[in-house]
Order: sequence, then C-alpha cells, then structure tokens
Amino acid sequence: MKVLAGDTVTPPPIWLMRQAGRYLPEYREVRKQAGGFLDLCYTPDYAVEVTLQPIRRYGFDAAILFSDILVIPDALKRDVRFEEGRGPLMSPIDADGIAALDPAPVSSHLEPVMETVRRLRNELPAETTLLGFCGAPWTVATYMIAGHGTPDQAPARLFAYREPEAFARLLDILADLSADYLCGQIEAGADAVQIFDSWAGVLGETEFEAFAARPVKRIVDTVRARHPSAKIIAFAKGAGIRLKTYRQTTGADAIGLDWSVPLSFARDLQKDGPIQGNLDPMRVVAGGRALDEGIDVILDVLGGGPLIFNLGHGITPQADPDHVTQLVRRVRGRG
Ligand code: CP3
Repeated sequence: MKVLAGDTVTPPPIWLMRQAGRYLPEYREVRKQAGGFLDLCYTPDYAVEVTLQPIRRYGFDAAILFSDILVIPDALKRDVRFEEGRGPLMSPIDADGIAALDPAPVSSHLEPVMETVRRLRNELPAETTLLGFCGAPWTVATYMIAGHGTPDQAPARLFAYREPEAFARLLDILADLSADYLCGQIEAGADAVQIFDSWAGVLGETEFEAFAARPVKRIVDTVRARHPSAKIIAFAKGAGIRLKTYRQTTGADAIGLDWSVPLSFARDLQKDGPIQGNLDPMRVVAGGRALDEGIDVILDVLGGGPLIFNLGHGITPQADPDHVTQLVRRVRGRG
C-alpha cells in the first residue's frame, strides 16, 4: 500500500500473478475436492483456503482473491465451463445475445465472492495487502465473443469492426458490472484492486484507445466516484509504447508491466508513478542463474523507485515451488 501511495520501499514488496494455482500441490488437492473450477471460486471455504496457501508457504506481501475474470460472463449466464486441458469455454455471443444480456442477477450471483473477501480480510495478517480484481472489458469480451481462448483474439477484433454498436454496448455493460464488482470487493475489505487486460496487446492504435484504455478509465472513474481513495493497478499486457499514456488515460495508480517492456522504458514510466512487474515467468520455470539474473537486473534498474515486484504475467503450472522460494529470498536480499 505504501508503494501504491508513491513511496519507494526497499526491498520492494512482492506477490505473483496467479500465485494460487496448479504449480502448488496443495492447490491441486483442494481443486480435486471442489470438483469444478467455478465451484472452487464460489465456495468461500475453498476460495479462502487456496488464497491463503501461497501466503503461508512464501509470506508474500499481498494475497490476491481467488476467483476468475470469467465469473462476470458466468453471472451473465453465458454458460461458462472450464474443461480439463481446454481452458475456459462458453457459448459465443452475437449482437442479439448482447441486446438480451440481463445485468440484474449479477451482483447476487457474485455474493459468495464478497463473502470470501470478508473472511480473507479477517484471516490475513494485518500487514498483508488483500487485492481484489476483475478482467478489463476488452479481455472479458474476447472470451465471450470467441467462446474460448484464441492466440490472437481474431474473432473479437472482427466482431468489433463488423458490429461496432453491439460491441460498444458490450464493453459498456462489462465496464459498469466490473466497476460494481470492484466496489463490492472494496466494501468487503479488499485494500486495492487490479484490472487484468491480458489481451490489450493484440489491438491496433485506435482500438487500443477505444476498447482497452477508455473502458478501463470508465471503471476507474466509477470506482473512484464511490471510493475516492481506492487504489487501482491496471495491467495491460503487450501494450508496449502505449503504456506511456496509459496511466494518465485510465487514472490507475500503478501500472503492471509484462516482461517484454524494456527496463529503461520501465524506468521512465516509474518517474510518473508506481510500476509492477516484470520478470518473465519462464525464468521461474528455469530457476538457477536465469532466475537470479532476471531478478537482479529488475532490482538494479527499478529498485530505486516505487516498485511492486511481480512477474510479467501469471506463474505457469510447470513452475517448481522451490524456485518461488528462491525468488522470494533473493528479492528480500537473503539470496
Ligand atoms: O492470481 C491468482 O492467484 C488469483 C486467481 C486468478 C485466476 N485467474 C485463477 C485461475 C486470477 C487473477 C485469474 C485471472 C484470469 N483468468 C485472467 C487474467 C490474467 C491472465 O492470466 O491473463 C484470464 C485471462 C483468465 C481466464 C482464464 N482462467 C483462463 C484463460 C484459464 C485457463 C488457463 C489456465 O491457466 O488453466 C483460467 C483458469 C484458471 N483461473 C485457473 C486458475 C488457478 C486454472 C484452473 C484449474 O485449476 O484448472
């Protein structure tokens, strides 16, 4: 929270995107008990447990609520499923489907997530930041339109060109629901929130502004209207040079950087405010020298300013949990 307020903290605080997940044997155990992935998200007993697992094991400075960005389309009754080895699936939406979306039941559907947040704030140590999150409208829309993950989000890009009015309506609906969802998490005890725009990088110049930056600003403005001091991190993966104006356009306090962002450029971005990132998750899989060297260069270049140490994207299932121990130790200066 100090870094989000603009302070430089040495050593920097650390948490990892996707820190609760399949690389941890204790997660896989609970996942088996829960049955479906969405059952895990909507059962506070399970969701609290898997949120706490990485905190117990590594003592990260922040816990991130265990849920998924696709609970919003699930609450909109888009038939969301997670099938083993296939990632998320749902019925692809079209213009008629967008016109028929009913936001009314969404907040009661997501009430179990609020219960999870309340319990977490009670159970976590006071010094551990509790992060809430949602997906950015563009990234959530890509899954709703294609009905599954794709390498380049071609279906959503095409839909946006062919059906601009319906597409704009979808982004507005998602932005307003996401803002309500984040406000609910803040009211339930989240200390700060992160907006994940994992697919921002596939957009052209005009589209990045209209589909990624503006809808995130709409969320930030709505959240701040209700919670003026809310702390917000925005992560736009693949945004590259467009990060120069992204903080200002969106109004986010901190910006998340993926591992392709050059550290010299990251240093410039840090002059305008806090940054978060940006170790390549594959360095955590590799371990050894590749891991140490990746950590050291980030700390050397960015450690003198407001930095939240993180990966440049989520930790992957093949990461060795012992490599995460090595990572945390080295960042904290005991390596
Ligand atoms: O960070 C955390 O530990 C908190 C939980 C969290 C999950 N997903 C749990 C999850 C968060 C913050 C997310 C965000 C998310 N979900 C994003 C944005 C960040 C990113 O990684 O790009 C996206 C695009 C999704 C959608 C999603 N959920 C996909 C594409 C997948 C399948 C890929 C995969 O890793 O399996 C999921 C499933 C998912 N979400 C899992 C977890 C732990 C794995 C599901 C399982 O246990 O089988």
